Amino acid sequence: GIDPASQTGATGVHDASRAAIPARHLRTDRWWLAPAATAAGLLVFVVYSTWRAFANADYYHAPYVSPFYSPCLAANCHPMHGGPNWEIFGSWWGLSPALLVLIFPLGFRLTCYYYRKAYYRGFWASPPACAVAEPHRKYTGESRFPLILQNVHRYFFYFAVLVAGVLTFDTVLSFRDEHHAWGHMGLGSLVFLVNIVLIWAYTLSCHSCRHIVGGRLRHFSKHPVRYRLWGWVGKLNERHMLLAWCSLVSVGVADLYVYLLATGAFSDPRFF
Ligand code: FES
Repeated sequence: GIDPASQTGATGVHDASRAAIPARHLRTDRWWLAPAATAAGLLVFVVYSTWRAFANADYYHAPYVSPFYSPCLAANCHPMHGGPNWEIFGSWWGLSPALLVLIFPLGFRLTCYYYRKAYYRGFWASPPACAVAEPHRKYTGESRFPLILQNVHRYFFYFAVLVAGVLTFDTVLSFRDEHHAWGHMGLGSLVFLVNIVLIWAYTLSCHSCRHIVGGRLRHFSKHPVRYRLWGWVGKLNERHMLLAWCSLVSVGVADLYVYLLATGAFSDPRFF
């Protein structure tokens, strides 16, 4: 038959096969609040993290190294950089070393199922909310270039695990004093601890992780260990949105904390 949409040129809710309702939508609640708040929250983080990533300063104060700058991958890192130091990029690299690291968590979060929903709604209004028609005439979903590239998410997951491993190491190192002697604990150690727990919870709650752990199995009964792990990941996965926000805030706070120490605006209260 002839596709009615091809006659009128309209698709989506304006498709000829759909009821012709003149109103743009029939929602009476404040449906715009969630996408507006999401866009505002993401914008604050993007502005803050861009400033800090390019700053190339105030990211280390013994024993803490900012999570934005770890691991160190360039020769121009702070000489006392506390965390893992792999100078893959020589002295020719003149920009902030954070840019080399942040590509990975940025790629992971940009392609994350939750963040996709968040910025498709918040910034592109595609769609703005449930049962609110999008302003765009055409909808091709993620089936074509460039959005089909969102499929690389599963590979970013592996990098995110590596980065979380490095930040775990940094958290362990934060239990030393400024002379690298063990047995220190400051407010910063707690900030780092909370952050790394949230980073792991977010990373393990990833939909790709859930598939890696429990997917492509014919019989759960034959894989009891994976079945149990899949159950745990599933529990975290239900909270994926919450964990995405909490870990975004905590990583920003951990960086801000190091910044305040490094600029001398604040000094680390010590418990022992
Ligand atoms: Fe959100 Fe993988 S789906 S991190």
